[in-house]
Amino acid sequence: MENEKIKRIGILTGGGDCPGLNAVIRGVAKPAHDMGLSVLGILDGFEGLVNGKAVELYNKDVSGILATGGTILGSSNKGDPFHWPVEFDGQVKITDKSADALRNYEGWNLDALIAIGGDGTMHIAHQLMQMGMNIIGVPKTIDNDLMATDQTFGHDSAVYVVSEALDRLHTTASAHHRVMVVEVMGRYAGWIALNGGLAGGADIILIPEIPFEWDAIYDKVIERNMMGKRFSIVCVAEGAKPIDGDMVVKATDPKRTDPIQLGGIAELVAKKIEENTKLETRYIVLGHLQRGGSPTPFDRILSTKFGTYAIQLAAKKKFGTMAALKGTNIKSVSIEEAIENQKLVDTSDQAVKTAKSVGVCFGTKKI
Ligand code: F6P
Repeated sequence: MENEKIKRIGILTGGGDCPGLNAVIRGVAKPAHDMGLSVLGILDGFEGLVNGKAVELYNKDVSGILATGGTILGSSNKGDPFHWPVEFDGQVKITDKSADALRNYEGWNLDALIAIGGDGTMHIAHQLMQMGMNIIGVPKTIDNDLMATDQTFGHDSAVYVVSEALDRLHTTASAHHRVMVVEVMGRYAGWIALNGGLAGGADIILIPEIPFEWDAIYDKVIERNMMGKRFSIVCVAEGAKPIDGDMVVKATDPKRTDPIQLGGIAELVAKKIEENTKLETRYIVLGHLQRGGSPTPFDRILSTKFGTYAIQLAAKKKFGTMAALKGTNIKSVSIEEAIENQKLVDTSDQAVKTAKSVGVCFGTKKI
């Protein structure tokens, strides 16, 4: 078995979707077919692994998908085999379906499974590895919060959406002399707000890693107004919170491993700015627009590199590893290393310093 070549691989896309998933699937499957491997596409992330739902992926299935958003395999963030929700009498009970996942993996005769996903997917992958599955990870998420890779694919596409939105909001904000508050995704990490805000010329960027002071925000918009800049753009991460308060939670869903759904901070920030500065203020939540549509050229290239690298790792039986961007090269890291910590914005990050240098306010006078 040691010297035997792998013959069959499975591939799944887990967690929230993002642009570039199809490019990875293509990047895995095309070389796999050339090597004579068969490729099984598992449907709806780990849900399909538990429920036994999968389709053979032939060459024709992965043609023409490089530039398409979403995932041809479907995805889910409720399919954690170790946190499987079952509804009974109107109550949600959490059960363990990992044995079903293993049975299907073995029944399908898979030699390896390529799991494309973020933090949650890599945690599940790590647990499944302990049960004997051969897993290779590919780091995906618009949030960019995965350790051990310089960037996840999907992030650049989300930043592009934010940047374009801020460009558009600049013109209307300026025409009406308004403050515009834009809420962006990212969960507990501020990368999308930081990079999107920097790219789109935001005046104020609020991120979870830097709890903000209300007065610092009011002072900034008033100062701009007094300088004749009669509009301001605030880019706020959904996980941002005031120094004396908590993140704004929109809903909780016990079916998910992380039940918290963030949302609502932009509305609060807009209300407080208008009340305290008397400047007309509007807010907008970009939401899932940031996850939809075609990947940027950067993400298409990164996803293709990740996919082709992942199949090489599988062929070399380097199981338990994840493809990772290091500088400009793709390397392998252990999945364990990838899930050790969440990658959050550090106040010493060059992007934070750069933003400060061009006058961006982070809602505090301390940095
Ligand atoms: O992790 C990606 C992400 O888009 C987060 O930025 C966001 O908090 C979350 O997923 C939203 O999840 P859902 O699509 O389930 O609402």
